[in-house]
Amino acid sequence: MKNILVTGGSGFIGANFIHYVLGETDFSGRIINVDVLTYAGNPENLQSIEKDFPERYIFENADICDLEKLRLIAEKYDVDTICHFAAESHVDRSIVSPGAFIQTNVIGTFNLLEIARERQDGLKLFHHVSTDEVFGSLGDEGFFTETTSYKPNSPYSASKASSDHLVRAYYKTYGIPVTISNCSNNYGPFQFPEKLIPLMVLNAQARKPLPVYGDGSNVRDWLYVRDHCVAIWAIMNRGRHGETYNVGGDNEMKNLEVVREICRCLDEILPADGGAPREELITFVKDRPGHDWRYAIDFSKINQELGWRPAESFTTGIRKTIEWYLENDQWVSRVKSGEYQQWMKEQYGEQ
Ligand code: NAD
Ligand code: DAU
Repeated sequence: MKNILVTGGSGFIGANFIHYVLGETDFSGRIINVDVLTYAGNPENLQSIEKDFPERYIFENADICDLEKLRLIAEKYDVDTICHFAAESHVDRSIVSPGAFIQTNVIGTFNLLEIARERQDGLKLFHHVSTDEVFGSLGDEGFFTETTSYKPNSPYSASKASSDHLVRAYYKTYGIPVTISNCSNNYGPFQFPEKLIPLMVLNAQARKPLPVYGDGSNVRDWLYVRDHCVAIWAIMNRGRHGETYNVGGDNEMKNLEVVREICRCLDEILPADGGAPREELITFVKDRPGHDWRYAIDFSKINQELGWRPAESFTTGIRKTIEWYLENDQWVSRVKSGEYQQWMKEQYGEQ
């Protein structure tokens, strides 16, 4: 791999991935980040990368729905590898406005696969970053494996399922070298504060209400974002073409437990003078329509084939995450201005 086109590199996981690959691995080539900078894309996430790797990091402001522009970029930088993160990623937004999810997640992925097909001769790999949500919802028992059948329940997960099927089809039909990863809920630095963990950290810090959907008993498996990046890089380097790999955090928790842990941790770091414990801020709100009950990942395939397992426990990962948000208050205040305010107002009637 010499010239990796990373899509969605200015978002949460993509930015962490670029930091990891350029900053911590022996990769010596270039990364070309194609991102249209939606509300979730933030060039600030890669400011230090621009400074430290001026020759090896390139930013191209482009929409993956624009096939002609993608073609020009791929030619210009002689792209030999594609790692595809770009997506509309927030389930609640997909319930309110599904159209953008179909455009970016389905049509955008199709366009990138067409680029891969056109460049098939020199192409080393198309890696597709997907989600465990394509498998639908589990009951109290069991785990998602790579052979679990697809049963997506939200417009977001249905659009990601469609994109997974297209990637598989391009492998089977055209022999494009592909790998797919389906992972559980990520958390860590640079996550946009519409997602559960950063939303709760920032609200709890500011002593605002902590909106928990339903009774808070839905279960997610929390994966620290750096562990996810390590898994993707292992798959890209050593994974078998045409295979999918499940990536999980080995950290199943009910949402209410997650929020309580954040409150406990923040009370410890930032004790209030005689203030009430932050748990008292928990407010149960209307449930998400079609809310998946439980996600849990069996990651034995990637463990056995590539020796990967998550390094971070929730206790260590959440501490690092909270400290990152507290230390990066300027990042937070810039992200929370503008579009974010509008979204929060529509969701919770806040100003
Ligand atoms: P994010 O919403 O933080 O970032 C998405 C990035 O894609 C942004 O930088 C945005 O500007 C860019 N983008 C969106 N539409 C685009 C378009 N049309 N053209 C070019 N760029 C566009 O998302 P994330 O949480 O970093 O997720 C990255 C990928 O990982 C997604 O494919 C998502 O489905 C998948 N995933 C995320 C999680 C999670 O917990 N966050 C878990 C499993 C899988
Ligand atoms: O499982 C992987 C998926 O994880 C990714 O594919 C998605 O891109 C990512 O957004 C995430 O989806 P979720 O819907 O699980 O994440 P979210 O952070 O939105 O919600 C996590 C859980 O917390 C979920 O059960 C809903 C609940 N929740 C969420 C918010 C934002 C609340 O109770 N209150 C909230 O305010």
